[in-house]
Amino acid sequence: MAHAKAGASLPVPNVQALAQTWNGSGEEVPERYVRTEESVAEEVVAGCEIPVIDLGRLLDPQSSEEELANLGFACQHWGFFQLINHGVPEEVILNVKRDITEFFKLPLEAKEAYAQVPGGIEGYGQAFVFSDTQKLDWADMFYLMVRPTESRDMRFWSTQPPSFRDSIDRYSAETARVAASLLRFMAADMGLEPERLLEVCRGQPQSMRVTYYPPCRQAGDVLGLSPHTDATVVTLLLHVNDVQGLQIRKDGKWVAVDPLDGAFVVSIGDILEILSNGRYRSIEHRAVVHPNKERISAAMFHQPCQDTTVSPLPELVTDGCGARYKSMGYMDFLKLFFATKLDGRRSHMDALSLRN
Ligand code: OGA
Ligand code: NI
Repeated sequence: MAHAKAGASLPVPNVQALAQTWNGSGEEVPERYVRTEESVAEEVVAGCEIPVIDLGRLLDPQSSEEELANLGFACQHWGFFQLINHGVPEEVILNVKRDITEFFKLPLEAKEAYAQVPGGIEGYGQAFVFSDTQKLDWADMFYLMVRPTESRDMRFWSTQPPSFRDSIDRYSAETARVAASLLRFMAADMGLEPERLLEVCRGQPQSMRVTYYPPCRQAGDVLGLSPHTDATVVTLLLHVNDVQGLQIRKDGKWVAVDPLDGAFVVSIGDILEILSNGRYRSIEHRAVVHPNKERISAAMFHQPCQDTTVSPLPELVTDGCGARYKSMGYMDFLKLFFATKLDGRRSHMDALSLRN
């Protein structure tokens, strides 16, 4: 989700602009993008379908129980699923896809009118830059606080194309509705009161990260988005164009995700893992880039409210299963999440773990 710039002083290149000149040159990709992690060279499992959950079947009393079992299985064993029949009008999705695509086509100066400001997390720029020596991701992004509506800082909301703001507003309302519905079914799966998970997300805080992955002639040497888990309750990921790149860590292997047309890719975030006392798992994931096609994705992050103390829900802490995580204020959790970011992956979750 958000990023911070503590410790970094060198300017970070705009990757879209860099790619435009570099892809046509004969030069090697700049060293700061060349990944040296062992996991980058690992083989990736292709053609593996992640679970498909049908919201229509969840809502239909005839099929609800059966689909709820599928949902529970996906949340426990995959931490990821694709959601179909989610009921978001096609027009809302087409509009947001079109306007996001148009935004990235604007000249650099026009996009930079919405650039991140020092110390801030919103706006257009690059994510996760903490130090001048870290490896950089091959991507640009913009990040916006979207809900509650009072949290919006319109300085960062583009007025180009003209329908951009309205498209995001409508998309936000629809995805908030879908997320609320999912959280009710997840509560049911865990034997909780229906509104129990939503109570933690009072006002349904939502933020959006849109990522633009330019093509990269040396795609195998770079990463679009470093391995991470989402510091959220749930994330709804929309593929803005039909280029794949998302990979999830499943049973020690990277698995490429090839979503169905029109589906959301839903991921369980760290906060839901903790609330569920480890019943649901947040799974590490990353994005790779394409050698000659751009890729755009839009992640809608659903978060707890700021004053939440993140801890396993008491209903799920039983004699047989004690609390598996320490409690921590959500703001402190975010600090820990970013502080351990460069160690990668789940080190913030390990720090919270009470197992063994
Ligand atoms: C994210 C994310 C994946 C993608 O934004 O948190 O995991 O495919 N995005 O862009
Ligand atoms: Ni993510």
